Amino acid sequence: PRPKMAVRSRISTSLSVGRILTNLENSCATPLPVLRHVADAMAEDMRAGLAVDGGSYLKMILSFVNTLPTGNEEGLFYALDLGGTNFRVLRVQLGGKDKRVIDTEFEQVSIPQELMFRTSEELFDFIASGLARFVQKESGKFSPARGRKREIGFTFSFPVKQTSIDSGILIKWTKGFAVSGAAGRDVVACLNEAMERQGLDMRVSALVNDTVGTLAGARYWDDDVMVAVILGTGTNACYVERTDAIPKLNGHASSSGMTIINTEWGAFSNGLPLTEFDKEMDVASINPGEQIFEKTISGMYLGEIVRRVLLKMAEAGSLFGDPVPEKLFTPFSLRTPDLCAMQKDSSGNLEAVGSILNNTVGVRSSLTARRVVLEVCDTIVKRGGRLAGAGIVGILQKMDNDSRGLVFGKRTVVAMDGGLYEHYPQYRRYIQDAVNELLGDEVSSNVIIEHSKDGSGIGAALLAAANSKYA
Ligand code: GLC
Repeated sequence: PRPKMAVRSRISTSLSVGRILTNLENSCATPLPVLRHVADAMAEDMRAGLAVDGGSYLKMILSFVNTLPTGNEEGLFYALDLGGTNFRVLRVQLGGKDKRVIDTEFEQVSIPQELMFRTSEELFDFIASGLARFVQKESGKFSPARGRKREIGFTFSFPVKQTSIDSGILIKWTKGFAVSGAAGRDVVACLNEAMERQGLDMRVSALVNDTVGTLAGARYWDDDVMVAVILGTGTNACYVERTDAIPKLNGHASSSGMTIINTEWGAFSNGLPLTEFDKEMDVASINPGEQIFEKTISGMYLGEIVRRVLLKMAEAGSLFGDPVPEKLFTPFSLRTPDLCAMQKDSSGNLEAVGSILNNTVGVRSSLTARRVVLEVCDTIVKRGGRLAGAGIVGILQKMDNDSRGLVFGKRTVVAMDGGLYEHYPQYRRYIQDAVNELLGDEVSSNVIIEHSKDGSGIGAALLAAANSKYA
């Protein structure tokens, strides 16, 4: 049974809704000194993670991507993207410098919820069969090179210890996945085995994180892209680093002198303004104590934090009358897109807010209650967006310090993707506010934070091309 009684008994009924709201706003506040601390701590943790493996919460994973797309890539390539609620397959015909992307097709399949809790074989079989179906539909307008296997760029958006460009060990699952038998294994081997079971003969030429795919995809069109950030179900960032700034490489510089580092910044936790609601959500999660930055700023969690606040207000201050509606006790019944939809309501009586609250958590609300709900949403979303902005500045700051001003002194692009970023305008605004506050007008005008829609699929295909076995 749900720990309903436990939750109830922890809450002091003497607190009024107003006091809960004020406390929440105070503990979520992100004035400039807090942002600055987060940016500095991010930069510092990055350095520690580059020094030695395990040197920091930030894993600073070597991606083995040492060259970025040039535009000369040619041929038919596939991409497979597994990262959250969906998996996507894509094929692209690359035409080289002038023609670039000649044609592209993709399909998206939602992952049945139960597969997130089954075995690795079941998950990979599902993916491989989706891929097989998609490959069968390849039409004559795509031209595979004769005598070659079709090659895949595999975007796998979980922390993977890369062992080469086309292999890597899953360190652990994040974002609510709890698939057994995959952690500690080479995920490319898992996919190969599943493809074999499907009778599908393809070759994984590049294994990449979604941030790395996004960086490669955005760089294909714009040479100034230096950082990529995903804000979706989870969150992460990668950036272009000089190999001589990575002590843990022990002098093994790449021939280009650069590489992409996958920071896995979701694990960051230094100095974040957290509340009792965050702590309780963390304890109840399948990965307690882990991915604290992710749990504070990403799409999987914002709605759940708000639900927890509303539950407390309902219990302690009868925000929605008595008794407290049953559905408000259900974890994750309020989702981040619901917050976004509520924040769009500008009508006088907040009709949409009322019906969303009714449809999701089953509450009837007065106008005052709706106003309170919007305040709570804004507080949590604002904290998330502003902290994401501070994280971005932390990365840029680290890069700028190490290159003596080469980042802030010129146009630098941060490629963004993920559903939260794409669909939540208010969140985007908070990111930009924080960046502007931290960097000031002059510098922030050089920093372009820009949406790179679905760049990660094309990016993975480009990296498969760049690392083609047949090149
Ligand atoms: C999680 C994963 C990370 C991924 C991010 C965004 O944080 O650990 O690898 O990049 O989500 O999808």
